[in-house]
Amino acid sequence: MDFSRIVLVTGGSGFIGSHLVCSLVARHPGWKVINLDNMDYCCSPRSLRNIEDKANYTFIRGDVCNSRLVRHIFKTENIDVVFHLAAKTHVESSFESPSSFQHVNVDGTRVLLGAAHQAPHQLQRFIYVSTDEVYGAGQDEAFDEGSPLRPSNPYAVTKAAAENLVRFYWDNFRFPVIVTRSNNIYGPRQYTEKVIPRFLSLLQKNQKCTIQGTLPQSRHFLYISDAVDAFLMVLEKGIVGEIYNMGTSCEIPIEQLARELIRRVKNVPESELDDWLAFVPGRPHVDLCYPITSEKLQQLGWRAHVSWAEGLRQTVKWYEDNPDFWSDVIDENRPIRSEPAKPSDKHQP
Ligand SMILES: NC(=O)c1ccc[n+]([C@@H]2O[C@H](COP(=O)([O-])OP(=O)(O)OC[C@H]3O[C@@H](n4cnc5c(N)ncnc54)[C@H](O)[C@@H]3O)[C@@H](O)[C@H]2O)c1
Repeated sequence: MDFSRIVLVTGGSGFIGSHLVCSLVARHPGWKVINLDNMDYCCSPRSLRNIEDKANYTFIRGDVCNSRLVRHIFKTENIDVVFHLAAKTHVESSFESPSSFQHVNVDGTRVLLGAAHQAPHQLQRFIYVSTDEVYGAGQDEAFDEGSPLRPSNPYAVTKAAAENLVRFYWDNFRFPVIVTRSNNIYGPRQYTEKVIPRFLSLLQKNQKCTIQGTLPQSRHFLYISDAVDAFLMVLEKGIVGEIYNMGTSCEIPIEQLARELIRRVKNVPESELDDWLAFVPGRPHVDLCYPITSEKLQQLGWRAHVSWAEGLRQTVKWYEDNPDFWSDVIDENRPIRSEPAKPSDKHQP
């Protein structure tokens, strides 16, 4: 079958990647979508079950740091577009094993860029999926794409370093790169280490939501379908060499988030909400918030469509309908992660 476009998604079995891959496969039957993913502890093959038999979908289980494999993919497939999402993503773990974050997030990006740049077929777009965390803690003003980068945790440091590699290819070779920096993305199928599924899975087990530290942390949340639309918008209309913030005005204090979830899941009176909160010690430094402005992306025509209330409703419903989705994966004795997620973390926080 002849495809009009070949798209390589790295990390396509993860939370965002699986939604992006499913959308690409369904919306563009004339495109071939290749997913390169090593199936780290945070993903399940079930995330892609709806599309795994589609003629325009191919899965390659492999490591983005494996330069022989990655070069082979670019030699044998005429890749037009790369969405690079493969990464270690859990901030708390990045303090425990910074070198694995450095390896995957920085070396993996270097390997991928090198292979894509040397490929016999000319790439149209290399889209690097970065994060608002590269800006560091927000103050009074929202960050725009020209704001300085002051990453303050090992995860964010590696994402910023990878961005520099991406920029190097633009500055030196005019390689057609685009960088996105997104707020926290949430929705169905997110692994239970991130804040919303973590609170939901604790509540499902009749345990309290753990709030780390005493500082008033808040996060901006973007629903997954709006994020996928933004990635597709950037692919079609984004300008090469540019960076696009991908954000929302929906800023939710973490304590408020916990109370909203308790209200929905436990259905208890207001006076009993706090009985489901537990305050635990936090790290000495956490970024309180990451406000960003997304005007550049909006100028391309993108808008977030899913309200916080609706996004949360759909997310809670999915976790209620699929209570064993992640516990089954963990029960399968999957390799790599050696310990359960910590009770509190900050990224999604
Ligand atoms: N979730 C968010 O809120 C958010 C916000 C901004 C940016 N991002 C970025 O988006 C990307 C995807 O995030 P996510 O939330 O879907 O994370 P995730 O942890 O759910 O998915 C990461 C994926 O990368 C894969 N992976 C890890 N190491 C790999 C390797 N060596 N080779 C191949 N695949 C590997 C994993 O198996 C997994 O499928 C990441 O780059 C992350 O930094 C996420």
